[in-house]
Amino acid sequence: MSVVGVVSMKGGVGKTSLTANLASALSAKLGSGRVSVVDLDPQNALHWHFGIQDPETEGVCRQSVRGEDWSGVTLASDFAVECLPYGAASEPDREAFEALLGAQPSWVGDHIKQAGLDEDRVVLIDTPPGSTVYLRQVFACADLVLIVLLADAGSYATIPAMESWLDEMSSVYPHLRTIYVLNQVDRSDSFNRDVADLLQRHLGERLAPIGIHSDEAVSEALAFQQPVLAYDPYGQASHDLARLAAWMITTLNQ
Ligand SMILES: Nc1ncnc2c1ncn2[C@@H]1O[C@H](COP(=O)(O)OP(=O)(O)O)[C@@H](O)[C@H]1O
Ligand SMILES: [Mg+2]
Repeated sequence: MSVVGVVSMKGGVGKTSLTANLASALSAKLGSGRVSVVDLDPQNALHWHFGIQDPETEGVCRQSVRGEDWSGVTLASDFAVECLPYGAASEPDREAFEALLGAQPSWVGDHIKQAGLDEDRVVLIDTPPGSTVYLRQVFACADLVLIVLLADAGSYATIPAMESWLDEMSSVYPHLRTIYVLNQVDRSDSFNRDVADLLQRHLGERLAPIGIHSDEAVSEALAFQQPVLAYDPYGQASHDLARLAAWMITTLNQ
């Protein structure tokens, strides 16, 4: 099993979209039953990308607070990706879950293993922005962490905070691999292009060789509650995601 975390310091950069769409691109390459997603964001939005609609859905939050394992919260989708939602949760549920995560850094990794996800599987984990207990959990269990960036001043400004966090984490988890992924690339916009080039120079090989272009099909796909690869299979974002998925499979096997 490979665990891939999707993180960022800043919100709204495309973590949830990337988690869902990359999962579907990985599933297209690896085959059905090989990819799961875990939603560690209290916004509980990841399942929408797969057309899973139950608003009262049980999820990893309440299940953890009840002291139960996560095997009962896995939801099948029409898109060959299984989803473990954060689930509906009251404020006290969320606080209790976060207290558990804060007290036991291996909670998420242990529960993913206990959930009966088989050996050959790739598990992607979506997170809320910033240095939260969820981020720490992801660093403790992931084989690879994708740090999502936009080619804008806001994302650029978060790099020092992310780098100091990565320094701290790499001393605790020396084998962890981290890679930046640029989202919403727009070569027709001169500012976007300049910042993308600056990031490329600054990050070098720590920036994934494939970025995801800005493509309105990404937002449209969510409106239709499906991954962009199902909604617009021949579009630019789907093309980028398929290439990123192929690159990731190679990277995870190295
Ligand atoms: N490559 C892209 N092209 C166009 N819009 C995108 C792209 N990636 C994400 N978006 C849009 O950006 C917004 C924020 O995305 P989201 O995945 O919710 O970010 P986060 O999880 O980091 O908060 C959404 O409206 C989403 O549809
Ligand atoms: Mg999100």
